[in-house]
Amino acid sequence: MAMSIKGIKCLLMVIALGIAGCTSDETPSEKSQAAKRADSAVDNTAGATAVQKDQKAPRGVPSGTATLPAPQAKSTKAPPAVAQTQEPKRPDVIFVPTPPEVVAKMLELAHVTKDDVVYDLGCGDGRIVVAAAQMGCRALGFDVDPNRIKESKENVEQSGVGNLATIEQKDIFTLDLGKANVVTLYLLPSLNVKLIPQLEKLKPGSRIVSHDFDMRGVTPDQVVQVEGDNGYEHTVYLWTTPLKKEAPKTEQ
Ligand SMILES: C[S@@+](CC[C@H](N)C(=O)[O-])C[C@H]1O[C@@H](n2cnc3c(N)ncnc32)[C@H](O)[C@@H]1O
Repeated sequence: MAMSIKGIKCLLMVIALGIAGCTSDETPSEKSQAAKRADSAVDNTAGATAVQKDQKAPRGVPSGTATLPAPQAKSTKAPPAVAQTQEPKRPDVIFVPTPPEVVAKMLELAHVTKDDVVYDLGCGDGRIVVAAAQMGCRALGFDVDPNRIKESKENVEQSGVGNLATIEQKDIFTLDLGKANVVTLYLLPSLNVKLIPQLEKLKPGSRIVSHDFDMRGVTPDQVVQVEGDNGYEHTVYLWTTPLKKEAPKTEQ
């Protein structure tokens, strides 16, 4: 049956209203997000502040219903999604590997046994972590450089010590060292000093060994020299906890 002129007008009106319900510059997903925000504002009336509850409800909304704050209620656009990008932490010192004979001396000085938990702070390619795990103990390596993390994980995998060794991408200055009882370092003197507050929280009897760099203000228990196969002399420092802090020098 042919549709009357009135019928066609009615149909056009319905289509036009349907389009108006979705503004031209708003995508369907934006619309549904805005709708969700509005829904949650209504759903959360229990948590709404007295001020929100006391606001005069717009016409047609029962009084006592939480409403969107005026500027948001007027806007049909979802706020731009601002990506919370944080600058990745940069290494405080570049990667320089500890030669194998120095690694061996560090673990020997620290008297590592299979009952220990060794943390290498700034693990580089994971060589100290692998060497410690090969002695049968749990070993964890931390580094901020994603390339070093990748190398470390590959080394752990290739050495077959994945059951004992763990590598994590973390800033060493955010670590809780409470579970470690051996800490290995090859950083810089200033970074060793910066770590003192964390190292002081190690369990009594824990050992800290550092390749080449001391820790100003803390007396080492042992200092030994090791000759690397490159002919260079390397120094290894050992401290045991509780740390023996030197008395601050007073001006005469
Ligand atoms: C000199 S390398 C020592 C590598 C390894 N421990 C060794 O002895 O062969 C220092 C390492 O510390 C890492 N590093 C520097 N600052 C760091 C930080 N704040 N947190 C975690 N790792 C860091 C560097 O990316 C680098 O791999």
